[in-house]
Amino acid sequence: MPALNPEIRRKIESYLPRYPSKQAVTLPALHIVHDEMRCVSNAAIEEIAEMLDLAPAEVQDTMSFYEFFHTEEAPMGKTRLWVCRSLACALRGGDELLSHLCRKLNVQPGDTTADGKITLEFAECLGACEGAPAVMIDDEHEHNVTPEAAEKIVERLRTPLAG
Ligand code: FES
Repeated sequence: MPALNPEIRRKIESYLPRYPSKQAVTLPALHIVHDEMRCVSNAAIEEIAEMLDLAPAEVQDTMSFYEFFHTEEAPMGKTRLWVCRSLACALRGGDELLSHLCRKLNVQPGDTTADGKITLEFAECLGACEGAPAVMIDDEHEHNVTPEAAEKIVERLRTPLAG
């Protein structure tokens, strides 16, 4: 069975006319696969390479350069929770916030909780320095996050949606 379903393939193909070469679609393709599958497996790397007329090692090189993508050995959880550790946030408790969340979730940065719900990551500046310390929950910023506020975020992420 192919690693990439037809919908993922269609999305990747839709990028081809927008870029000067097939190789230039490597990064968007990795993002598409990562968003949909919560990781980029070796099989997915091979299929991306085939679609873009590249060697799998070229796709692998791009993937490992960015340190953003999770592999199949350590897939992302349902939600990715980023804690900023750059200067403005560090000065306002970002490091302590990250340590607090590591203890609370029983993970290290880059790991996913045992229930598969949250992947905790550290981030460089999230572009929200005026709200330091800042976190990002998938694509959504939260500002001035105290350890107590972080615990509420975790509770919310762990609560199944009603209905
Ligand atoms: S330093 Fe944390 S958002 Fe800019």
